[in-house]
Amino acid sequence: MYNFDQIILRKGTNSKKWDSIDETYHEAGLLPMWVADMDFATPDFIREAIAAALDHKVLGYTMAPESLYEAIIQWEATQHQIQLKKEHILFSPGVVPSIALAIETLTQVEEAVMIHDPVYTPFREMVEQNNRKVITSTLTIENGQFVMDFKDIEKKFSTEKVRLFILSNPQNPGGRVWSRGELNTLLSLCKKYQVYCLSDEIHSDLIFAPHQFTSAFAIDEAFDDLLIVLNAATKTFNMAGVKHSMIYVKDSVLRAKLMAAQAKSEQGTINTFGYAATEAAYRYGKDWLKELIGYIQENQRLFMDFFAKELPHISVIKPEGTYLIWIDCRSLGLSDQTLKERLIHQGKIVLSPGIDYGLNGSGWMRVNLGCPKEILEDGLQRLKLALAK
Ligand SMILES: Cc1ncc(COP(=O)(O)O)c(C=O)c1O
Repeated sequence: MYNFDQIILRKGTNSKKWDSIDETYHEAGLLPMWVADMDFATPDFIREAIAAALDHKVLGYTMAPESLYEAIIQWEATQHQIQLKKEHILFSPGVVPSIALAIETLTQVEEAVMIHDPVYTPFREMVEQNNRKVITSTLTIENGQFVMDFKDIEKKFSTEKVRLFILSNPQNPGGRVWSRGELNTLLSLCKKYQVYCLSDEIHSDLIFAPHQFTSAFAIDEAFDDLLIVLNAATKTFNMAGVKHSMIYVKDSVLRAKLMAAQAKSEQGTINTFGYAATEAAYRYGKDWLKELIGYIQENQRLFMDFFAKELPHISVIKPEGTYLIWIDCRSLGLSDQTLKERLIHQGKIVLSPGIDYGLNGSGWMRVNLGCPKEILEDGLQRLKLALAK
């Protein structure tokens, strides 16, 4: 049994989540429930693997060991039902840097890249920073969950000359776990219009039964020549600061393009601790993950019960995966700026403003439930102060 109730003081540790906010918002005593890292201890088997690497005493150049490839292949096969070979796996310092690499490699300046709206903010940022054109397709809500508008996607694929689609699978911020059928339709459209698809699967381990995660690689190998899958152990095992991720590419031509791009700036090698941490996560992490999922589900239940009772005018999308939750504050009738200020100054709580995820996020907020219950309960009281009618 792991102790997810333990409160670990993170203030004063250069934590982005805890230490950047007082200065940003000029307000003391804020509770952060925004950026996506969790307030739980990184599991002991990962910290021990890092400590063992440190104990070697010499921190020289390291290589990815054979045993790391084996651990990744095994994890992907048993957790996500995809079959990888060693040569399919590239390393990168992060999923977001890999997205930037794919944009740079597979598209030309001013060509169009499609993303959903709303979606994880850096998707848009990476497209814009690389001087490509952002084309969005709105996620609509049906039966309380996000669904893709395939007609809109097809229309824009054909008229806007889209070269690359960036998918959050599962979906951040809505917690939607895309079905096999939805992925098949999307990838079939990509094939028809020769659009590359990048499937960001960093949240794929955190899925709530009866929902089942489907990797984009699990649909049909006919899509492999257009498909890149990104994953990492850093989100699941709460070690984002380690900066380590994987790029999976099955098609050798596509992989050669990405490897050549990585070679240009010597990007494909990772720090010693990243290798050690990821291998330990995938070798020893199953039980910890199972307990984590149970704990997050309980947090989710507490959150939804509280909102139903105390803040019924705020509707909540029940996540199928991820430790995030997407809440609809539009009934308050506030501008995005006023809503944010009310949360900061009245509730003394920092959430991720929905508008940062796209125009369709206006009036919404994203809350991070990856914290001990005591912190969640404190957060709920603060939310009540800020969001009461
Ligand atoms: C969908 C998604 N992709 C990528 C990342 C970040 O990945 P990395 O830290 O490896 O760049 C996050 C972090 O919240 C995320 O939610």
